[in-house]
Amino acid sequence: MDFELKSLTLHQTASTVADALLLLWPDAADQARPAVDDPLTVWARGAVADGDIEAGAGQCLPAHRLPGVKPRRVVLVRTGDGSAAAVRKAVAAGMAALKAGQPRTLIVQAAAAGGSAVASVVQAVAEASYVYTTTKSQGKPRSLRKVTVAVQEAGAVRSAFEQAVATVHGVELAKEWANRPGNHATPSHLADAARALGKRPHLTVEVLGPKEVAKLGMGAFLAVAQGSEEPLRFIVLKYQGAPKSVAPVVLVGKGITFDTGGVSLKPAPEMDEMKFDMGGAASVLGTFAALAELQPALNVVGLIPSCENMPDGRAVKPGDVVTSLSGQTIEILNTDAEGRLILCDALTYAERFKPRAIIDVATLTGACVIALGGVRSGLFANDDALAAALLDAGQAAQDPAWRMPLDDEYAEGLKSNFADMGNVGGRPAGAVTAAKFLQKFVGTHRWAHLDIAGVAWKGGTAKGATGRPVPLLVQFLLDEATRVRSDAKPTKPSAPAKATRVKQN
Ligand code: BES
Ligand code: MN
Ligand code: ZN
Repeated sequence: MDFELKSLTLHQTASTVADALLLLWPDAADQARPAVDDPLTVWARGAVADGDIEAGAGQCLPAHRLPGVKPRRVVLVRTGDGSAAAVRKAVAAGMAALKAGQPRTLIVQAAAAGGSAVASVVQAVAEASYVYTTTKSQGKPRSLRKVTVAVQEAGAVRSAFEQAVATVHGVELAKEWANRPGNHATPSHLADAARALGKRPHLTVEVLGPKEVAKLGMGAFLAVAQGSEEPLRFIVLKYQGAPKSVAPVVLVGKGITFDTGGVSLKPAPEMDEMKFDMGGAASVLGTFAALAELQPALNVVGLIPSCENMPDGRAVKPGDVVTSLSGQTIEILNTDAEGRLILCDALTYAERFKPRAIIDVATLTGACVIALGGVRSGLFANDDALAAALLDAGQAAQDPAWRMPLDDEYAEGLKSNFADMGNVGGRPAGAVTAAKFLQKFVGTHRWAHLDIAGVAWKGGTAKGATGRPVPLLVQFLLDEATRVRSDAKPTKPSAPAKATRVKQN
C-alpha cells in the first residue's frame, strides 16, 4: 500500500479520480464561512445544517455518486476537536463505512490537519486495511493500494507524514512476525527476517547460534532453550546513523517464539496466544525497519534472544540453578518465568556497547495485563529523564505507557537459599518483581523496561498482533537523535528539554 501526501484544494479533490473519499470535518468547520462553492463543501455544509450528521468524532454520513465529485463513494466523517486521538477514531469509523466497497484507491481530505492529525490518518487507514494472509490458502491481500492524504499545505506536515508512513511499515513488519504461528516463526525464521533487514542501508546483522551462546556463557538463556528441538538464535542488529564515537541506544526484545511454560506447564485455554511471546522481538525488528527508512542521526543496537520454552526430557527443571552471563547464579523456581532468563543475559551483553541507554521490550508478565490491561504498556526505569522521554514519546505516538515503581522492597521475594536469586518473587506485584529481577543485570546503566504483555496483541475475535510499541520506540529514537545532536555541542549551555511534558491522566 502506497501513501502519498498532496496539497489539494477541495475543488481539486472533487475532481481527482479515486474509488473512495473520506472527507474529514472538524467541529470548527461548522462555523467557518469562507465563500467556497466546491461540491464537497456545499454538500457537507448542507448535511450538517440539515442535521443529517450528528456532532462527535466518528459520526459518519456516506454518500454515493455526488454530483461533480469523481470519487464514487464519499464519507463525511466528523473529527470533533481535530485532535490526533479524535482523528484516529474518526478515520477508523470512516474506513468501516467503506469496508464493503473494498476501495483500491482512497483520498483522505484532511484540509486543516496538523502533523499529529496527519499521522493519525496514516495509522488509522493502515490499521483498518491490514490483513494477515501468510498461512491462509485463500488469503486475499489488502485491497487498498493507494492512499492520498490531501491537505492545504503539504510542506508543513511532510516530516510528520514520513515518520508515520515509516512507523506503519515497522508496525506491519512487527504484526506479520507476531501473527505467524510458532511453526512459521521459529528462532531461525526470526533470524532470517533480521538478516533480510541487514541488507538495508546503514544496517548490519549478526546471528549467533547455540555454540557461540554457550561459549559466551549465557547460562540462563541456554537453560530456557535446552527443552526445545529448535536451536536458539541470538540476533544482533546494528543501525549506524551517527559517527562510531556516538554511544548507541540498545534495544532488547524478548523472542520466545512459543511459551508452553516448560515443565511448569501452562493450562491449555488460550495457550495458542503464547505464539505472540516474541512480540518484543517483533517490535525491535519493526523499529529497525523504520530506522532504515528514516535514517536518523544516531546509533542503535538491537539484541534479540530467541528460543522456544518447551517441556522435554532435557528441559530445565524447577529448582535447577544456572549461571548467567553476569556470573550471578539463578535458581529457576518456575520455568514459566522464562522471559527474564533470556533477557538477563542479553542485558549483560548490552553492556559491551557502552550504551547511552538500554531499553528492553517484553511480553513479560500476566500480572502487567492485570495491572494495566490493553491500554498502556508498563514502563519501569532507573532514570527519571529516560522514563519521561519514553512516556512523552508514547503519548505523542498514541502508543502510551505508564510508569511503574522499582522500590528495592519489591526484590525481597527474589531471595534464594540455593543461588544468588530465584527467578520468581510470588504473586503480588508480579510485573514489578520481574522488573526487579532484570534490574540486577543492568548495573548503573540508564535502563528502561517495557512490559508489553497487555498491549502486544488482542485476543478474542479480533485476535491479532498490534505492532505496539513500535510507534513509541520510533518516536523515542527520533527524539533521541535530537538529544544526541545537542549533546555533541557541549560549548552551548544545555537547552531546556524540548519535548513538551504531556500530563498523564
Ligand atoms: N509470556 C508470559 C507472560 C504472559 C502471560 C503474557 C499471559 C501475556 C499473557 C511469561 O513468560 C510468563 O509466563 N510469566 C509468568 C510469570 C510467573 C510464572 C511468575 C506469568 O505471568 O504468569
Ligand atoms: Mn512464561
Ligand atoms: Zn513468556
